Amino acid sequence: MSKIAVLGYGTVGSGVVELFYKNKESILRKVGSDADIKYILDIRDFSGSPYSDKFTKDINDILNDDEVTVVAECMGGVTFAYDFVKACLQKGKSVSTSNKELVAKKGAELLAIAKEKNCNFFFEASVGGAIPIIRPLHKCLAANDITGIAGILNGTTNFILGKMINDSMDFADALKMAQDLGYAEKDPTADIEGHDACRKICILSSLVTGKHIYPDRVFTKGITDITLKDVKLADKFGAAIKLIASMKKLENGKIIPMVMPMLVPYDNLISRVDDVFNAVMVFGDGIDRAMFYGRGAGMLPTASAVLGDVIEELKTEEIGTDRAQTWEDCNNDEIVADYRESSARMYFRVSAGCTLVPADAEIIENGSETAFVTKSMTFAEAEKLEASVKAAGCEVKSRIAVLDI
Ligand code: HSE
Repeated sequence: MSKIAVLGYGTVGSGVVELFYKNKESILRKVGSDADIKYILDIRDFSGSPYSDKFTKDINDILNDDEVTVVAECMGGVTFAYDFVKACLQKGKSVSTSNKELVAKKGAELLAIAKEKNCNFFFEASVGGAIPIIRPLHKCLAANDITGIAGILNGTTNFILGKMINDSMDFADALKMAQDLGYAEKDPTADIEGHDACRKICILSSLVTGKHIYPDRVFTKGITDITLKDVKLADKFGAAIKLIASMKKLENGKIIPMVMPMLVPYDNLISRVDDVFNAVMVFGDGIDRAMFYGRGAGMLPTASAVLGDVIEELKTEEIGTDRAQTWEDCNNDEIVADYRESSARMYFRVSAGCTLVPADAEIIENGSETAFVTKSMTFAEAEKLEASVKAAGCEVKSRIAVLDI
């Protein structure tokens, strides 16, 4: 009988245990053999838990138990999670993780160990919560040249922006609500500054290119500057402001990954993705486009993806390492292009009296402030325009690109 260990009994870990026992019968039918959770690793005391006999505070109990073939890592962070995951893989135990920081920062190294030890480092839960996106990308869409990806990969910021858009709630109250509902990271900076979405687009970009794309090479801007005024002007233009993570492949084979708030026109399905939901649009030469939508955060949605990987591992254990779900380390200079080469229409909100509004721009408002949307220009050109407006003595209150896909 295969035994499973769960590392961390927080929101995701406890969800993994709950969902496993809730659906154990059907899970085992899909696995095709018997399996059970033998250990739950957590330094806290859970003596009153119905699973109290499974708790251990010592990772060595798991590492030294040959019955344990699959480990679900739900601890988060990179310090202990990295050490424990590495040690498990080195022992030939496959790992399923929801930890996007770990995958985005250490993926190449951990995947190499998994390959060497003929086991798997799976991470379906690290991007898009419940949404199947990792396996579809490297299995169902494997025949395509994937030319781009764009979407909403952070539930907390989408929830916050939704509250601002639909309820005129201010940023701080909406963030507090997201934290109370268990969506936000322990440190919400990772959500609101875009780092969480950055890690996720790095993971998808790495999978698509086969090269590890590092977070520090991705232009990343969060939502902390977004005001209710911009939200309302975007609506007047016919768009919703969303935090968009994207990756575009250039003709020379390089990619431009980036994360930033964007105006998403209402005729784009992504503009209708509300609450904590995520959506990922994938572009390929065979499929044109495919969209994946679902709950991007939360206990059971994330647990569903972690357990999906555990089940996949249990039923294919004898096959060994999945060759398609991997990437190698690389010098990112060779593959990541400067985001300033990318083009978009640009929304500007500037102080009244600005004489540098381009003649062909669409004016959204012209009163105590001027808001306009330019024709398509590169981000480099947009920076120059912003600098000229400032040099002419006007204040640039916002500049947000428009999503055009
Ligand atoms: N904090 C993350 C989010 C959790 O809001 O999307 C899921 O990765």
